[in-house]
Amino acid sequence: MYALLYGLDALATVLLVVFGWMAGGKAGRLVYSSSYKKLKHKSRTIMVLFSLSVLAFAGKIFIAQQIYTKFGWLFSQDRILLQLPPLLMAVLASVVYGIPRIVRILRLSAENQDTPLDAAAYRLAGDSSLIIPFKAIKYTALASLFFYFVPVVPIRWLDAAAVLLVLLVFITIMVYRVLNRSKSIHQHENWVPLGRKLRVAKGVAEILIMMLIVVGGWMYERNVSRLPETMSMMTGSADFGGGSGSANAHQHAVTTGGKADVSVETLTGPEEGEPDRRFTLTAEKKLVRSSSGKMVEAWTYNGQIPGPELRMRQGELIEVTLINNNVDVGVTLHWHGLDVPNAEDGVAGATQNAVMPGQMHTYRFIAEQTGTFWYHSHQDSAEAVKKGLFGALVVEDPADAATKYGIDRTILTYSLKNSGFSFGEGADAKLLEHVQADPGTPVRLRLINTENWVQRAFTVVGVPFQVAAIDGTELNGPTDLSSNTRLEVTTCGRYDVTFVMPETPVFINIGDDAKKGILFSQKGNGEPLDLPESITIFDPSVYGTPEVLPFGLDSRFDREFLMVLDNQFSFYNGSFGALYTINGKLFPNTPMYMVKQGDLVKTTIVNRGMVEHPMHLHGHHMLVLSRNGKSVSGSPWWSDTLYVGPGERYEVAFLADNPGIWMDHCHNLDHAKVGMSMHLAYEGITTPFALGTESHNHPE
Ligand code: C2O
Ligand code: CU
Repeated sequence: MYALLYGLDALATVLLVVFGWMAGGKAGRLVYSSSYKKLKHKSRTIMVLFSLSVLAFAGKIFIAQQIYTKFGWLFSQDRILLQLPPLLMAVLASVVYGIPRIVRILRLSAENQDTPLDAAAYRLAGDSSLIIPFKAIKYTALASLFFYFVPVVPIRWLDAAAVLLVLLVFITIMVYRVLNRSKSIHQHENWVPLGRKLRVAKGVAEILIMMLIVVGGWMYERNVSRLPETMSMMTGSADFGGGSGSANAHQHAVTTGGKADVSVETLTGPEEGEPDRRFTLTAEKKLVRSSSGKMVEAWTYNGQIPGPELRMRQGELIEVTLINNNVDVGVTLHWHGLDVPNAEDGVAGATQNAVMPGQMHTYRFIAEQTGTFWYHSHQDSAEAVKKGLFGALVVEDPADAATKYGIDRTILTYSLKNSGFSFGEGADAKLLEHVQADPGTPVRLRLINTENWVQRAFTVVGVPFQVAAIDGTELNGPTDLSSNTRLEVTTCGRYDVTFVMPETPVFINIGDDAKKGILFSQKGNGEPLDLPESITIFDPSVYGTPEVLPFGLDSRFDREFLMVLDNQFSFYNGSFGALYTINGKLFPNTPMYMVKQGDLVKTTIVNRGMVEHPMHLHGHHMLVLSRNGKSVSGSPWWSDTLYVGPGERYEVAFLADNPGIWMDHCHNLDHAKVGMSMHLAYEGITTPFALGTESHNHPE
């Protein structure tokens, strides 16, 4: 619905520009009519074009009203405050001044319609009150189109004023020229229009000047968008969310890395002690066979796609040694969803330097949560994950893990670069996998979607099932779901599914192909089951049983942040494209949320754009409080990667209990790569690491 309104608004605005441009152009050329007949013909055309403009304008008003009532002020404020008022003025002026004069032209009587205009007719046709309003529609529509492509929400008045100022300059030049001409028509009894050649020359000059301005602005914007060779993660402007703290403290932290400040390097896991489990992951390039059969270059951990599954028990001390054999861009290990101490978080440029070929790095942490997680490189992650640097990570609950589930397995979905969609092991996973399962076996499937920009669909056919956990957190009192429930696991989210194996087969359909998936049966054979005809999509906000929590919607929050996700057509690091902004900005200009340890933090996330964004906060789990104004009514829903669709609004909360500098970014990694990324920073904490070409650190 929102995406539709959003698209229609673009259409209405473009049409308004086109019709306004044509009407204004015709109005300016009325005096060049060689006869009364031609003059009247042009006037009629102006009437038609103006009516079309009014229709498009009415469309824009209707859309703004719909967006306002259905989605609220945050979604409509730029339209209502910035786009519509200038347009309204131009349209009204056309109705009040332009149209009556057009009517007068149409009423002009001349003996012979083919005779050239006389002085009175010239005066009427060159009347500035007729021409200016129509021309103004063009300019105000262009400004509206600009605000559409480069929105400034929450409204930044200074930026908005700059655009409106440019609009004013263009209109002033136009008014000046029209007035000049009408003056000379009035002064000279025998005024005759310029010759054709001169007019064309003037027109060309005008277009050239316009182009010069556009190209100049283009080049300027492109240059200022270039990222510096080196910069700190903490470049963004501090947002204290209404809590205490001073911009000064932030400034201090950034510029001096001051003595009193704590470096992220010190926020490690236990440095002493014999680990309960050791893993070694070696990053290396490898040719693998893709699902289409051809060999493609992949980047692997231990030569495998996905990397080895890391299993551990809650409470264990884990030590992972990362070695980089030959991945030139460098690698790291980020434990997605595991809230480890900051120094173990594996973000190049924030918590460590990228591990370059020939180097190694050791991570040590205690596995404190239980559940389903995954790991991936957080150096050049958009490329690294697509090339294969990821794997599953499972923390078992020692009380029940080994005994409770007869079958406990992860299902990772991924799309390898130049290969396509796959699940399970090896990039060329087959269409259908068979699993032998005896009736009565408790089964736990851990669904992990590691893909970019895909909500991967899973349908469980042949048995009632439960969603036991989301993003590594157990749900309270999950209830049975029937086979026509489809799970859509967001990019980088996880759902744990449980069921008891019945006498008859169970089919887990994965993705869009009805035959693709895993078939559980007594003999380990058979054909995939048919999918149900009607499907309902699983909604975590109403599933399971409520539970009393330490905080909720009516808590008193120490910090309240507003995160507005949006589209923007502009430059990032010198290249132009459709970009995705946070509060109207791209990294490193995105805000940095500042908190103190112990703060209770609420964030309202709003997606005004036309595509979805799975927002991932490192180091913390967010309790989802409400979705589109409705409070979550089922089990507590803790998330680390929250799918925020176009037009959606979420309120989430977390306790600031894990000091550090934490990334908060869209996990469509291609979005993060072009600036949809920001940070949560604890006051008094600094990082000695830098980003940029000089340091080799490129987290996204
Ligand atoms: Cu899965 Cu910032 O990462
Ligand atoms: Cu995104």
